[in-house]
Amino acid sequence: MCADKTATLSLNGQTYDLPIMSPVLGPDVVDIRKLYDEADIFTYDPGFTSTAACKSAITYIDGDAGQLLYRGYPIDQLAKESSHLEVCYLLLYGELPTADQLDDFRNRVTRHTMVHEQMHYFFRGFRRDSHPMATMVGVVGAMSAFYHDSLDINDPWQREVAAIRMIAKLPTIAAMAYKYSVGQPFVYPKNSLSYAGNFLNMCFAVPAEDYVVNPILEKALDRIMMLHADHEQNASTSTVRLAGSSGANPFACIAAGIACLWGPAHGGANQACLEMLREIGTVDRIPEYIARAKDKNSGFRLMGFGHRVYKNFDPRATVMKESADEVLDLLGIHNNPILQVAKELERIALSDDYFISKKLYPNVDFYSGIILEAMGFPTSMFTPIFAISRTVGWISQWKEMIAENGKIGRPRQLYIGPKQRDYVDVTQR
Ligand code: SDX
Repeated sequence: MCADKTATLSLNGQTYDLPIMSPVLGPDVVDIRKLYDEADIFTYDPGFTSTAACKSAITYIDGDAGQLLYRGYPIDQLAKESSHLEVCYLLLYGELPTADQLDDFRNRVTRHTMVHEQMHYFFRGFRRDSHPMATMVGVVGAMSAFYHDSLDINDPWQREVAAIRMIAKLPTIAAMAYKYSVGQPFVYPKNSLSYAGNFLNMCFAVPAEDYVVNPILEKALDRIMMLHADHEQNASTSTVRLAGSSGANPFACIAAGIACLWGPAHGGANQACLEMLREIGTVDRIPEYIARAKDKNSGFRLMGFGHRVYKNFDPRATVMKESADEVLDLLGIHNNPILQVAKELERIALSDDYFISKKLYPNVDFYSGIILEAMGFPTSMFTPIFAISRTVGWISQWKEMIAENGKIGRPRQLYIGPKQRDYVDVTQR
């Protein structure tokens, strides 16, 4: 990207020329790195609505066009033609793999799916009713207490091993969190199964009988994972980058990302959305919830609606909606009441001036929960599945940040607290 244009800032009788950089896709950026040094002034953007925090070549979103590209490839093409592991390779290394490269990558991931046996004991320390995301934050962070040979962020080979380990082990840890929550024995990974099939088996197999992976569920879960793999500088990815900028080890950075993803405004929305749809229950109650969502004082928002970047449809939601229809139909679940409520809610909301004026469309979380529930997952497992999927995005962005060799992330502030004042003894207060 070049900086052959400049923006001029006039301030206190001075003018400052700020370089403008042009990206491959998307809006130009004004380079303000020298602004404070030269003009003794900060910019103010608490939600980062107008701030590019980094350069990245991984994912591009055009919110107005409803476009999402992974390394330039449109998400709808990848969701139709590719697989989650192939998308992992693409996001990590920048190009689609040859057949041999994909085989090698799949083998490397497959042979890292088991966790250190002692990690089983961590689960015993949690209450059975712990949310699986609480367990995952703890156990993924604890990976840095076990895998000492892949902690050195300055060693490219250790970074590579850490990346493979996390892509491989997150499904195992999430499945263990689920099994622990339902009081069933852990199921070990099976190298003969696909990435999605192995996760289904680890979650739903029991020692008492054989479990056969349903190919419909396997394909739908693999597609859900692809759709959630990366998404530019969203809150959890920005968290991973900020944690990584201090030199923290990769496992600690991903644990931070999982913690951030848990919030209902972010990855926790898929659980919150299905619970909202279930609470609405029937189509005739939708107007009541639409009214609440429009009432600022209600504090209620339609979960699964709206997005910081998409001011048009979320292309992932479009694919997810098609997938929901297909999966439920193939499973013989017709006239699913939750799906009917979701479709009617979408129809009504998209014809309502409030949502139209604020450009609020269904996002990736609106339909995903319907499919996951049809697969047999409890709502508490929806965000862990999002975390499994997003691990490759977090790791790819973390690797890109390390390679950039950037500075530690340390924003400034607009201070509105008290001016300096002297201490007053308690007897004088
Ligand atoms: C994800 O960033 C990413 O890329 C995230 C993600 C990813 O892949 O990583 O895409 C995954 O997090 C998807 C979003 C999941 N969250 C939800 O579905 C929760 C419900 N949606 C929101 O809370 C909200 O829409 C956000 C958080 C998603 C986006 O918030 P913004 O961009 O900061 O927008 P905002 O809160 O400033 O809202 C703008 C206006 C406000 O009204 P005004 O103050 O201007 O009058 O729209 C209203 C909001 O009140 N609004 C909603 C709404 N979302 C926004 N009103 C009702 N229901 C909603 N869902």
